[in-house]
Amino acid sequence: MCVFPPFLVMAELIWDGKYDEHGHKRAPVRIELPFQTVETVNESVQQRQRTLELSSSGHDAEWRNRLIWGDKKYVLPSLLPEFAGKVDLIYVDPPFDTSQDFSFVATLPANNGDDASIFTKEPSLLEQKAYRDTWGVSREARDRGVQQIDRYIRWFYESISMLRELLTENGSIYVHLDWHVGHYAKPVLDEVFGPNGFLNEIVWQRTGAHNDPRRFGNVAESIFFYAKSAAYKWNTQYTVYSDEYIQERFRSVEEGTGRRYWLNTLTAPAHGRPPKTASFFGTKRMPPPGTMWRFTQDKIDDLAKQNRIVTTDSGMPYIKQYLDESPGRPLQNLWTDVPMSKSGFERTGYATQKPEGLLERIIKTSSDEGDLVLDCFCGSGTTAAVAERLNRRWIACDLGRFAIHTTRKRLLGIADVKPFVVQNLGKYERQQWQVAEFAPSSSTVIFYENRRTSP
Ligand SMILES: C[S@@+](CC[C@H](N)C(=O)[O-])C[C@H]1O[C@@H](n2cnc3c(N)ncnc32)[C@H](O)[C@@H]1O
Repeated sequence: MCVFPPFLVMAELIWDGKYDEHGHKRAPVRIELPFQTVETVNESVQQRQRTLELSSSGHDAEWRNRLIWGDKKYVLPSLLPEFAGKVDLIYVDPPFDTSQDFSFVATLPANNGDDASIFTKEPSLLEQKAYRDTWGVSREARDRGVQQIDRYIRWFYESISMLRELLTENGSIYVHLDWHVGHYAKPVLDEVFGPNGFLNEIVWQRTGAHNDPRRFGNVAESIFFYAKSAAYKWNTQYTVYSDEYIQERFRSVEEGTGRRYWLNTLTAPAHGRPPKTASFFGTKRMPPPGTMWRFTQDKIDDLAKQNRIVTTDSGMPYIKQYLDESPGRPLQNLWTDVPMSKSGFERTGYATQKPEGLLERIIKTSSDEGDLVLDCFCGSGTTAAVAERLNRRWIACDLGRFAIHTTRKRLLGIADVKPFVVQNLGKYERQQWQVAEFAPSSSTVIFYENRRTSP
């Protein structure tokens, strides 16, 4: 196992409720509830029969992707017994700051020549409660100086702590946020994953211009990329070269073939290894100080035979790097080429929908076919839809009924979508939140990090 080195001292963000009165850090509330399958979508009679046979013979039923309707507060702890350490990739786009995150905007088709109308579904009771849990601050708490942001960070910390537990040792997480809370979320992520777990802040340009009077237009969002250990999965992605880049970089054109190329160095940093000579066209050469030759003598001879080694006037050898053999430019952390999907096949009408192109990059970079991808704020189902297309397994969750409806419909629009189950936590979740909402706080059992107590 390849873990990050430990960290000893680190600046810390403190929010209201982080520590109890004895100075112990409060661990997230864990209430495990049983999932109930309300529907199996797209399953043939034969597949259903096979699943039943497998489970009645004591074998694991064949994997089914899962669309779960519920609050992440109950869904994540309920996933832990089965999935702790088993999720390969997590993408989350948590709600931030506006009730829009719990609303659904839809366009109704035109009727008898009328204009199409747009309506917004207001948050349901459950959604309103989640909204209050995330941002609500009572008058009493406000008097104590508690800010909305404290509530949000607490909620965010609880989500991230549990998501980390769900990840495999080589798993990673992408957390999509923007200027509202991104800068608060970063220290929380550092705390949960350790500062070495941080890999990138990806800046995604979501739109060309935004009218923000008397300040610069906010056109970008951030995606924080963290890994659970140094052995995280990584598949380099490439973007196509721009014409300017090709003209600038691949300047030379090979006589006879017309192939474009540039001359790349044949050396690499030596990192303290003793220098060794190599022979180029019968002449022995030492590498420049601090470097070593990148290839063995056999490989160099082979490249020379293929006419791929060129020496400059100074006698320094280089290798021809052809344009037609180059995979493109390794993806950098500034993403300006993934437009927001305004229309077309992927547009669902869900207000906060993200483009599939974004998820495609993330899923291809940090997972392989068959891996398990999780999104516990799935909204319109972008993560599930892309995971399905890329042949990954997936679990998607949202507390909004319209989110589940939209995701289900979207998945059914994918040709050959594999059967998936729609689940909820049934009456248990409703009971839980009724207790949390209406009963005195003494009935809530809280698990603290090293002990269990009732406050
Ligand atoms: C910003 S949207 C996600 C959009 C999504 N990435 C997409 O492409 O459509 C956030 C989602 O989180 C859901 N949500 C908010 N609080 C939640 C909670 N406590 N548990 C589960 N889902 C929640 C909202 O219903 C909303 O659909």
